[in-house]
Amino acid sequence: MTIERKIAVVTGANKGIGFEICRQLLQQNCHVLLTARDEHRGRQAVEQLAEPGARIEFFQLDVTRQDHVDSLGDTLQRQYGRCDILVNNAGIFPDPRNDLENEWPSLLTASIDDVQKGIETNTYGTLRLCQMAVPMMQKAGYGRIVNISSGMGQLSDMNGCCPGYRISKTGVNVITRILADELQDENILINSMCPGWVKTDLGGPGATRELAEGADTAIWLATLPDDGPSGLFFRDRTPIPW
Ligand SMILES: NC(=O)c1ccc[n+]([C@@H]2O[C@H](COP(=O)([O-])OP(=O)(O)OC[C@H]3O[C@@H](n4cnc5c(N)ncnc54)[C@H](OP(=O)(O)O)[C@@H]3O)[C@@H](O)[C@H]2O)c1
Repeated sequence: MTIERKIAVVTGANKGIGFEICRQLLQQNCHVLLTARDEHRGRQAVEQLAEPGARIEFFQLDVTRQDHVDSLGDTLQRQYGRCDILVNNAGIFPDPRNDLENEWPSLLTASIDDVQKGIETNTYGTLRLCQMAVPMMQKAGYGRIVNISSGMGQLSDMNGCCPGYRISKTGVNVITRILADELQDENILINSMCPGWVKTDLGGPGATRELAEGADTAIWLATLPDDGPSGLFFRDRTPIPW
């Protein structure tokens, strides 16, 4: 008996946590579409992961570009007729640090432009990909969506500074909640997760976690059984408050 490989799409996967998620999804025998906005960096990442037997391909995707998302949807529909797993990982930290004063922007002084950039990539990017993938998941009667959020988007633990990042990640969580409710009668499970403070370009050198640890909960959520949770926020495979 041959078990059909799941088709998995990961955004922002040329480096960092997204790259590690692709690596671990390959270990789960998935067929991985590693997507990245930069073609050269994306293809290099695919080359790094393309061991014998690994099913991995590159797709150029800037999550702020609706035409890119549409084209990914067309390709998935044409080649596979489905999208089993979607990991919305692509993200930016739009709030610039004032190195001279060693300070992060406050809500009162933040540039609206920076806040918009955060929402455009982190929140609308997630929304665009969900709008692309969910109809295919509904047709197939199967879907797992992992929205990579952050503790910085947690309302229950909201602190000052960095409004662009915080607002955008709270927005990601709103998408998770709305979709989980709208899809509650279908075999499509959607959850948010925080990877913890991970050693990546975004996390910075002071971060405490290795990539594998940061990706672990994403893989667990991407491969949940049919009776798994939906509409929750996780860290270390454990629910955390919104
Ligand atoms: N690291 C942490 O401590 C931490 C903590 C909490 C949450 N997170 C979240 O984890 C996710 C991954 O972050 P990371 O730490 O791995 O950061 P990273 O190493 O900076 O990687 C971010 C990835 O997102 C991509 N990206 C940015 N804008 C994009 C766009 N418009 N379209 C497509 N891809 C885009 C980047 O591509 P380029 O290489 O082209 O820039 C890169 O591949 C993010 O959502 C982040 O908010 C990270």
